[in-house]
Amino acid sequence: MVTNPGSEGDTLPAMTANPPATDATGATSATGAVRLERRSADSLQQDLEELGRSLREPLPRIPSRFFYDDLGSDLFEQICELPEYYPTRTERALLERIAPEVAAATHAETLVEIGSGAATKTRLLLDALRDQGTLKLYVPFDVAEATTERIAKELTSEYPGLAVHGILGNFLADLAPLPGQEGSRLAIFLGGTIGNLNPQEAASFLADLHAALAPGDAFLLGLDRVKPIPRLEAAYDDSAGVTAAFNLNILNVTNRIAEGDFDPAGFKHRAFFDVEHSRIEMRLAATRAQRVTLQALDLALDFEPGDEILTEISTKYDRPRAERLLAAAGFSVTEWFTDPEDLFALILAKR
Ligand code: SAH
Ligand code: TRP
Repeated sequence: MVTNPGSEGDTLPAMTANPPATDATGATSATGAVRLERRSADSLQQDLEELGRSLREPLPRIPSRFFYDDLGSDLFEQICELPEYYPTRTERALLERIAPEVAAATHAETLVEIGSGAATKTRLLLDALRDQGTLKLYVPFDVAEATTERIAKELTSEYPGLAVHGILGNFLADLAPLPGQEGSRLAIFLGGTIGNLNPQEAASFLADLHAALAPGDAFLLGLDRVKPIPRLEAAYDDSAGVTAAFNLNILNVTNRIAEGDFDPAGFKHRAFFDVEHSRIEMRLAATRAQRVTLQALDLALDFEPGDEILTEISTKYDRPRAERLLAAAGFSVTEWFTDPEDLFALILAKR
C-alpha cells in the first residue's frame, strides 16, 4: 500500500500485519491512488465487550459482522450466486436499468459504499458516473479487510484516474467522517444489509449517515421486499448447504476473537420467517448437550439439545415501513425503483 506523503497518519502500519498479495506497484495506478484507513483502534476490546453482552442475553446472540472473516466473505460471495438467493441478481438487474438515471440525478463525484463487500454491483454505478464524467473517488467501507483491500486495488486499475479511499471498520460505530466533497457524494447501502440491523440499529445507523452527509448529497438504499414465505425461507436455507456453512463459520470467528471452544459440528443451521417482525431469523441450534467456554470473555455457556443462538435477522420491508425509516432519519425519498416482480427495491433519497 502506498500512502500519500501529505495524508494524515491514519493509514496504520498495522495494515501490513495481513499483507495483501501484491507487487510493489499493486497499490497505485498511473493516475488513481489507493488509501486504506483503519478506524477504531480499540476494536478488539469493543468486539469482546459486545460479544460478551450478546452471548449473555436470554437468547444468546452473535453480532452478524462476525460472519465476515476471509472464509465468511468468500462464502457470502457464493451465496450471492445461489439459485435460491434472488436478491443479488434482482438488485443487479435493477441497478443495470437505473444506474444512468441515478448518475444523472445526483451528478456525484464520490461514491461512498457502506458494507461494500466484493463490490460487484458497484461497477454498474461507477460505470454510469464515469460515463457522465463526474466520477473521482470511491470509498468502500467494510469490516472485511482482505476483501476491501482487494477490491480497492482492482477498482483503481479498472477505472484509470479513480482514487480509492477504503475504510476498514464497523459502520455501526465509526461511520463519520466520510471522505469526499460535501454536496457531491452518493452514499449507497446495497444488498438489503439494512435489514440485518435491528430496528434501533437501523434507526441510529441512518441518523449517523444523515449526520455524516451534507446537504446536496444523495443516498441509494437497497432493501428486500415482503413476499411469500417459501421463497424467503429458501433464500436463507439453500439446498447446497452454503448458507449453513456460512452460518456455522461464525462460531469459528467467535472462537478466534474470544478464545472459545465452540464445536461447529455440535450445531445446525436453521432459518425461518417471523411474520410478526417481518424478518428472517437465522439461528444455530445445539444438536447435543455441551458446554462452551470462551476464555477471553470469562464465560461458560451450557447448551441442551435444541438450545439456540441468534446469528442474523434479515428484515423484509413494505413500502410504508421503508419510507418511515428514511423519513425518521431526515432523508426525503426522491425515487422508488423496483423490479417487475417487486422482489427487491432501490430507494433514492436526498440528505
Ligand atoms: N454490498 C454487498 C455485500 C453485502 S453483505 C452486496 O450487496 O452484495 C454485507 C457486507 O457488510 C459484508 O461485506 C460485511 O463484511 C459488511 N458488514 C456487515 N456488518 C458490518 C459492520 N457492522 N460494519 C462494517 N461492515 C459490515
Ligand atoms: N444482507 C443479506 C441478506 O439479508 C445478508 C445475508 C444473505 C445473510 N444470506 C445470508 C446473512 C445468510 C446471513 C446468512 O439477505
